[in-house]
Amino acid sequence: MDELQNIAWHDGRVRILDQTRLPGELVLLEISDHHGVIKAIKQLSIRGAPAIGIAAAYGVVLAVWEVEESDRTAFIERANHAIDLIRASRPTARNLSWALERMRGALTRHLNRPLHEIKQALLREAQAIQADDVQRCQQIGRHGAALLTQNCAVLTHCNAGALATGGYGTALGIVRAAISLGKKVQVYACETRPLLQGARITAFELSDDGIPVTVLCDNMAAYVMQRSMVQFVLVGADRIARNGDAANKIGTYGLAILARHHRIPFYVAAPLSTFDFDLRNGEQIPIEHRSADEVTHCGGLQTVPDGVPVINPAFDVTPASLIDAFITDKGIFRPPYEATLQPLKSLNLIP
Ligand code: MRU
Repeated sequence: MDELQNIAWHDGRVRILDQTRLPGELVLLEISDHHGVIKAIKQLSIRGAPAIGIAAAYGVVLAVWEVEESDRTAFIERANHAIDLIRASRPTARNLSWALERMRGALTRHLNRPLHEIKQALLREAQAIQADDVQRCQQIGRHGAALLTQNCAVLTHCNAGALATGGYGTALGIVRAAISLGKKVQVYACETRPLLQGARITAFELSDDGIPVTVLCDNMAAYVMQRSMVQFVLVGADRIARNGDAANKIGTYGLAILARHHRIPFYVAAPLSTFDFDLRNGEQIPIEHRSADEVTHCGGLQTVPDGVPVINPAFDVTPASLIDAFITDKGIFRPPYEATLQPLKSLNLIP
């Protein structure tokens, strides 16, 4: 996946692989200011909770990169204002505000340094957030791979892969790690309407890596479970409350209900940066609602008659009671989550 790096700092700009154009076209966006980063996040050119956080961090760097050495007040104001603006770009992923809090921390720690040093410190922090996420994904992979059997099929939803993270992936990182241990794993990817992240992005990155992947329409999930075609469900998360309720791409909750009915283990893979210990439960997770035309149109074609209302929540919340385990960079956690997740809280402090 190296040549398909989803986001990178390049010569004073942020380079983003435009995921809205996959799988048909590999288009790189060269972004030179934080407004461009906000646009890329909103329109899902860069998406997936950890990747959104990384983009946000680079956005803060861009906001101050061109500020003149003499203008210290403008520099600090610009950085803080950019953090606030970027934070508002998408509401659900915890990783976005987590990364921005890290950037604010780096700014505060270097506040008395010359401006060119603060710029470098912010860039180092953004790059560290990205590198750190790859390591977390690899650890998730290591822990999760042990749960998969020697020869199995995994159902996944949306894209929780290299393209949704700093690299390697959370749910798909587990598949990669299991395969590298010699296990035979194949993936069933739900297409993930309305924006088809499963069909377009998961199928793209797995087939690019030579990992067997089969796409199904979202309404075929019960069929594959009833026929024992999958042995595990593995998904990512956008935000996890301290009681273990977990928000992920719309449709995840339905899969969890189906998995419980068919006695198929349902695992959520996520780095610590996705956990929000300030939230008591899933009711407090803000759910993004996106524009109606994502539902009324598909592939440029109108699929709903004019004037008919639609709904378009981008995420749903799977209750903790339907989640068999969380696979994190710090290990595997099982119910009762209120107690077992608690030790993660102190590890989750922003440095
Ligand atoms: O709207 P998206 O494409 O940003 O939604 C992404 C998901 O729901 C992912 O499953 C989640 O962010 C986990 S990515 C490791």
